Amino acid sequence: MVLRRILYLIFVITIMKYGKGQNSDNSSAEIPLLDNLNMPLVALFDTTKLNEVLKIAIQKTVEDTMNEMIPRIKQAVIDDIGYEPEREKERPAFTASLTYHKNLANNEVVIFDKVWLNMGGVYSRDTGVFTAPKTGLYSISTTVMSHSGSFLHCDLWKDNEKMVLAFGNDLSTGTLNVVMLLMMNDTVYVKHGSSSKEKIFGDQRSTFSGYLITE
Ligand SMILES: *[C@@H]1O[C@H](CO)[C@@H](O)[C@H](O)[C@H]1NC(C)=O
Ligand SMILES: *[C@@H]1O[C@H](CO)[C@@H](O)[C@H](O)[C@H]1NC(C)=O
Repeated sequence: MVLRRILYLIFVITIMKYGKGQNSDNSSAEIPLLDNLNMPLVALFDTTKLNEVLKIAIQKTVEDTMNEMIPRIKQAVIDDIGYEPEREKERPAFTASLTYHKNLANNEVVIFDKVWLNMGGVYSRDTGVFTAPKTGLYSISTTVMSHSGSFLHCDLWKDNEKMVLAFGNDLSTGTLNVVMLLMMNDTVYVKHGSSSKEKIFGDQRSTFSGYLITE
């Protein structure tokens, strides 16, 4: 495609040059045609403008390709991570959910393993902890569902402080919605209570999310 285009350009330039009656000299070279367009097997090419022509052709091709590719790459990124990367700094926000049922240990931090949104990389899928990237007013929400026949105590913690408590029993849900002022680097997470016999329901029914309301 690109090669054909370059060859065509060279050919046109060559014809223009010969049309003006110039003779071949050191600046011409015989190049076998790579095409099969019923052209003579060998053509004389004027090489004086070759570099320039090649440069223009390549620049134009690269430019066209970039213009065409950038929106596609951008869309692929949006499809992949769920938001435009440029918007990261605009508003930190995250949403995560639990994919599988889990027996929770005594005081275990609940790690919501499926990350749906993570603008600003504020939520850690490794630790289950949300870290405020800047000081501001935040909305934080969690819903936890207890597994069949099980109690479930899960609390919302800010740094080392237990704030509000959610509870479920036998396939029921508890939800916490909190608006809080967080300082930069404050952490918020959902932690299981003091029991080792409780089981949380996964299957995207237990969730953790938050976003910056205003700085
Ligand atoms: C062709 O190139 C050679 C070597 O660069 C030079 O000596 C000669 O004068 C050139 N001939 C013409 C017609 O430009
Ligand atoms: C927040 O944490 C980052 C990274 O650890 C650190 O560079 C920064 O100084 C911290 N800011 C405050 C206000 O604690």
